[in-house]
Amino acid sequence: MQIKSKKQPIKSKSKKSLNKNYFVHKSSYVDEEVEIGTGTKIWHFSHILSGSHIGKQCNIGQNVVIGPDVTIGNNCKIQNNVCVYKGVKLEDGVFCGPSMVFTNVYNPRAEIKKMDQVMPTLVRKGASIGANSTIICGTILGRYCFIGAGAVITKHVPDHALMIGNPAQQKGWVCECGEKVDDHLKCTKCGMKYKKKNGGLEKRSVNGFNNL
Ligand SMILES: CC(C)(COP(=O)(O)OP(=O)(O)OC[C@H]1O[C@@H](n2cnc3c(N)ncnc32)[C@H](O)[C@@H]1OP(=O)(O)O)[C@@H](O)C(=O)NCCC(=O)NCCS
Ligand SMILES: [Zn+2]
Repeated sequence: MQIKSKKQPIKSKSKKSLNKNYFVHKSSYVDEEVEIGTGTKIWHFSHILSGSHIGKQCNIGQNVVIGPDVTIGNNCKIQNNVCVYKGVKLEDGVFCGPSMVFTNVYNPRAEIKKMDQVMPTLVRKGASIGANSTIICGTILGRYCFIGAGAVITKHVPDHALMIGNPAQQKGWVCECGEKVDDHLKCTKCGMKYKKKNGGLEKRSVNGFNNL
């Protein structure tokens, strides 16, 4: 009997899978009209719904649902038990912690159809979203912002802002490397310097930073 490697991609007759260079665990479902980039891995019991685009080198954990019609950039990491619903867009390098929750209808009712009222959520490049946090739809999470575990995001989040609590409040700034930025807007770890721009932070120099 032939034993397949666990890392063997599942066989599918769909056109896109002919040159498949990504991995989908055999317990997961990928619907028609889905694009998955090179090097992406989709682990156990997950479901990618039609019309979704997932970039290169992403890691999609266990029990994850994506779509329909969702776009996810390159190098994203989506931990276990996350649903990325229609209306949500993730740019490159976004981290979604385990069991964090996106929403897409602001005031749902079981007895009234509201899928025509889906509100968009945009998660910008490099943002990290902590475990068990909730993102109320209609918000933009800025570049490299950091959402603490369990936070509830109700408003737009500035670039590099650290947000914690329910409702989430800004408690400082976070560098691209994930460490805090001090009162002089300098990273306490890698030395990257920032300046204020459009309510958020923007890099002032590239000195001392070679991590990405
Ligand atoms: C937010 C975080 C990065 C810590 O940031 P920090 O500024 O270094 O926080 P500190 O540990 O210095 O704590 C500062 C205060 O905030 C509180 N705090 C820290 N994280 C918090 C959170 N997520 N929610 C509410 N309060 C929090 C601390 O209890 C402390 O309160 P105190 O001043 O009353 O004692 C971290 O707690 C966190 O939430 N990380 C996300 C982890 C995660 O979800 N990982 C997913 C992959 S496993
Ligand atoms: Zn840094």
